[in-house]
Amino acid sequence: MLRLGLIGCGGMGDVHRQAIEQLQGRAAFTAAVDLDLARATATAAHLGCSTVATDYREILPAIDAAIVAVPHHLHHQIGLDLLTAGKHLLMEKPLANSENECLDLIQTAQAVDRTLMVAYCMRFHPVIVEMERLLKAKTYGELFQLSIWTEQHTQGEPGSWMHQKATLGGGQLFSHGCHYIDILLAWLGDPVIGTHMGTRVGTPWLEGEGTSNVTMKFANGALGYHFGTWGARGTRLQYSFHAHCTAGMLEGQITQGLLLFHAGAAEDKTGTETLLFTAPPGKHVHNELFHFVECLESGQRPLTDGVRSLQSLRVIWKLYAAEEQGVVADLRGLGIE
Ligand SMILES: NC(=O)c1ccc[n+]([C@@H]2O[C@H](COP(=O)([O-])OP(=O)(O)OC[C@H]3O[C@@H](n4cnc5c(N)ncnc54)[C@H](O)[C@@H]3O)[C@@H](O)[C@H]2O)c1
Repeated sequence: MLRLGLIGCGGMGDVHRQAIEQLQGRAAFTAAVDLDLARATATAAHLGCSTVATDYREILPAIDAAIVAVPHHLHHQIGLDLLTAGKHLLMEKPLANSENECLDLIQTAQAVDRTLMVAYCMRFHPVIVEMERLLKAKTYGELFQLSIWTEQHTQGEPGSWMHQKATLGGGQLFSHGCHYIDILLAWLGDPVIGTHMGTRVGTPWLEGEGTSNVTMKFANGALGYHFGTWGARGTRLQYSFHAHCTAGMLEGQITQGLLLFHAGAAEDKTGTETLLFTAPPGKHVHNELFHFVECLESGQRPLTDGVRSLQSLRVIWKLYAAEEQGVVADLRGLGIE
């Protein structure tokens, strides 16, 4: 039985409860850690852990693998300590705040032969999984435009690590948009050029941008777009994907758990809308953890391993740099592999 530890019991602390039943007999949470002992104790009670600590180094004998859900500037050191202690690692996104830190984690995992997976939970959401299956099979022809909207209001307590660039690693795009850059690369292939425009207007509590618009052109000619904001005071689309294919448009309403297909001309009202798939509400983070455990059991490479996840961060860093210089980013050579 795989013994799992959870390090960081904040916002992401409780989401793993849903996985416990699904993993019964294969994996169990044995330890919970947080600087805040009360938080760690409450999470340990939810997850059924026998070990509780405020220092992750104390739980090493009690675990085989860890989920790390701490502020981004701590990912590198904690990840490194866990890997060198021989633990498998499911690191919350983004992998780490710099290219060197990411490479260090990837190379250490390889050197000690441990699994390093990045927690890009959106890749495991049932609507996204089904959408990907239909797009890869070209069920509705060629995908030529993928647009992704994420509209939410995200503001931490005053002084939160989420507000500072040095601790968050950037702005909304780096912290949250990385989920969608990862998906754009996975579905559309090698990017060629791209732009990012970000603003702090509407989210003055953030040092980096709170609202982002990313546009990319891919080697196959397709276009990708991501609009993400942490400043939404209202929303209709919430989390939505529109995949325009040559035979119609797939619409993933992620928050509602719906996948729709639209065809025909909208303007003359002859368009058709077909409901293809429904998923229960929720983040479905348990699917991500299930994949991690399956990879450990089978030795297979995680869908979102360190190498693949670094590619999406490299795209983001290139987009930020080009924005600062006022130029279009050259993204050639930054495919998912
Ligand atoms: N995939 C998603 O949908 C999603 C959503 C939110 C957050 N996240 C990720 O989860 C991670 C944590 O984010 P959060 O929103 O839960 O943050 P948070 O601030 O709510 O929680 C972080 C927790 O880590 C604890 N902590 C800080 N330093 C620690 C240390 N040295 N040892 C042990 N615990 C420590 C804090 O006390 C706090 O309880 C980040 O990587 C974030 O990007 C992912």
